[in-house]
Amino acid sequence: MVRQQYTLPELPYEYSALEPVISAETMRLHHGTHHAAYVKGANSALELLERSRTSEHDVDVSAVLRSLSFNVNGHVLHDIFWKSMRAPQKRNKPSAMLEKIFDETFGCFDDFISEFKHAALKVEGSGWAVLSKDPDNGILITQVEKHTVNHIAGYTPVLTLDVWEHAYYLDYRSDRGAYIDAWWDVVNWDFVEQRLTGNS
Ligand SMILES: [Fe+2]
Repeated sequence: MVRQQYTLPELPYEYSALEPVISAETMRLHHGTHHAAYVKGANSALELLERSRTSEHDVDVSAVLRSLSFNVNGHVLHDIFWKSMRAPQKRNKPSAMLEKIFDETFGCFDDFISEFKHAALKVEGSGWAVLSKDPDNGILITQVEKHTVNHIAGYTPVLTLDVWEHAYYLDYRSDRGAYIDAWWDVVNWDFVEQRLTGNS
């Protein structure tokens, strides 16, 4: 069976749709250059693995599998990130159902926001803050360094925030905190709820 290649997903909105929170220039570079590179890297790794099976070509399997993990996770985390956002809305809030889940897990919605921001701020170097669903349908905030380190097997990301510098440096320079604070206005809570309830 021939494996399907990974493809760069189209965004569900224009590059300018998230302004002023995220500029069109940042989105163009982020999606069209960085995400595209992860897709290309994932496909290249698959091609190398295929070549190692069908020829005498000597492949460093550990390096290829490391590259595959990095690039596939980068692709998937970005795909969720794009879908986790929509045009800015002031006082953007989750539904009552989602808010109840935050209340039960974190105490209240504001405490969830605070814990998520702390996790995002404290990612060492490049990485992600991720709200995940665990196998028992609980929720947990996690950090992922780069695209792979600290990922917990079996946990499903339902909301991802990219805190690599390429995600915010053009718009916020080194002020990661300002980027995180502004980002809540573009979170697509309907998508998060669909991911949590298994409908996306
Ligand atoms: Fe990114």
